[in-house]
Amino acid sequence: MKFFIDTANIDEVREANELGLLSGVTTNPSLVAKEGVSFHDRLREITAEVDGSVSAEVVSEEVEGMMKEAKELAAIAPNITVKVPMTMEGLKAVKQLADLNVKTNVTLVFSVNQALLAARAGASYVSPFLGRLDDIGHNGMELIAQIAEVFDRHGIDTEIIAASVRHPMHVHEAALNGAHISTIPFKVLGQLVKHPLTDQGIEKFLNDWNNAQSK
Ligand code: E4P
Repeated sequence: MKFFIDTANIDEVREANELGLLSGVTTNPSLVAKEGVSFHDRLREITAEVDGSVSAEVVSEEVEGMMKEAKELAAIAPNITVKVPMTMEGLKAVKQLADLNVKTNVTLVFSVNQALLAARAGASYVSPFLGRLDDIGHNGMELIAQIAEVFDRHGIDTEIIAASVRHPMHVHEAALNGAHISTIPFKVLGQLVKHPLTDQGIEKFLNDWNNAQSK
């Protein structure tokens, strides 16, 4: 499973990228709004930093508007992936963008059927939202496992991005259940690195080392 970071904050993108493990970035309108910057300028900064896929979401609800936005976004950099909502109009845009060889990420996926439709329309990625399903008492991880099974059984190469990740167990289980990618908030990335036994171990090694030096 690969790692994307789910943020529009350039400092977070840069710090995550320094770790050498980042395969891409996902943004959404809420994340961009939080930054208070020009969307296109921020995408220019992110795509200059990261070689992998950078998802940028359209906000139009009709296919014509989506296509206009998508073409402007795709012109920013070759690694832009156009993020499209899981609607009838979104699927039409996915098909048209696939014909133009523009990568797409179908977002707000909450069922196996939605994932299958998006894949068959030509989506490069589908994004099932784990956390938001968990929030309403459904099992987000079960959805990941089922999409992975269906894609595998039918030879579909659309990649599954585990999205709406809230904590380290989501990441661990997404990897076990067949997600190709987990897109994680910067805070969760920090939580993945940490383990209390690692911290204790470092402290003990340093103490032993310093004690030996003072002898
Ligand atoms: C990913 O592409 C989505 O933008 C993101 O994971 C949504 O997460 P949230 O449900 O925490 O807003």
